[in-house]
Parts: sequence; C-alpha cells; structure tokens
Amino acid sequence: MLSRTGERIADRVGALPEGLRQHIYRVQQVALDLARQHSIEEEKARLGALAHDVARTMNGEELLRNAREFGITVHPVEEKVPILLHGPVGAEILKRMDGLDDQDVYEAVYWHSTAHAGLGPVGKVVFLSDKLDPQKVSRYPFQRELGDLAVKSLDRAIFEFLNRELVSLLQKGSLVHPVEVEARNDLAIKML
Ligand SMILES: [Fe+2]
Ligand SMILES: [Fe+2]
Repeated sequence: MLSRTGERIADRVGALPEGLRQHIYRVQQVALDLARQHSIEEEKARLGALAHDVARTMNGEELLRNAREFGITVHPVEEKVPILLHGPVGAEILKRMDGLDDQDVYEAVYWHSTAHAGLGPVGKVVFLSDKLDPQKVSRYPFQRELGDLAVKSLDRAIFEFLNRELVSLLQKGSLVHPVEVEARNDLAIKML
C-alpha cells in the first residue's frame, strides 16, 4: 500500500522545482538517520520526509482556496500567514489524490510547520529533519546543538526548537499559531 502511494508521491516530488527537491532529499536523509537512531519505522519516516513539502510552491491564495475546498478549518492566523497551510493542504492532496492512507505519514506532513500536541514519532522525526536540513543553518544557527539533542531525545529537541522559534516570533512582533504554543506546552508538561 505504502509503495504504490510512494511511487505517486515520488512522481509528484519529481515535478517540483530543483531547489525544493534538493531540500526534500536532504530532509529525507536526516529523517532516515533519526528514524534509525530512535528505532522508528524508516519507511514511514522516509515517505513523510519525501512528502512534506508537496504543497510548498502554492501561493497564499491557492493555499487558502484549497484549504477551504478540502474542508480544513482555517485559523485567523493562517488567513494572515497562509504559508502555514502548506502542510495541511499537502497532506489532504496526498490523501485525496495519491491514496495516502497511513495516518502517521499524513500527520507528519500536516503538522511539519508548527508541530502539534501529541504528535507521533514519525511526525516528530519529519518536523525536526525539516529544520535540520544543513542548508538551513543560517536560519537556525543553533542547528548543530539541535541535531545533537535530536539524537538523544526527539521531544527535548522539538521543545528546544519551539522555545527558540516562539521567542523569535514574539521578538519580531509576529503572529503565533496557538497550535505551536500547545505543542510546546504539551512537551513541557511531559518533561518539566
Ligand atoms: Fe514545509
Ligand atoms: Fe521543508
């Protein structure tokens, strides 16, 4: 089941712009390494990473239109920052058009931008791998520490990332999606 869907997803990714494709392949490599280190199903981690940015080339208008068409509830923060919808819209496209019926892969794609309280292991791996793409080091200068932490604990790494991300958003006076705050608090409640 995953393999036929996997082929369709690979075709879809193959049609994406070169730069985005290279990002996806780097994320896939990080995801495979993390999955192995944490004994998480490699095939799901690989597929989630491959699939995570299938809707990344859509503009804000297309994302909002698709989200509404797919019945995704659009949060006021997403109305203002529609790029946050590329995970949810991508996940729905894969489910509706490519036969994706694996819930772990679906949620990994859906929540890869904000994370989510109670995100499963495959989702955690894909979320972190996306941030650990070596080409994103200028955006995330703490990437090396994040990578080291991710080997020890996916939860601690995501907690650390979300803390930094939320501080940075607040410092800039940007909008904060509540789901990201909830994800952070969920990890805090488990760990603190
Ligand atoms: Fe993305
Ligand atoms: Fe990405």
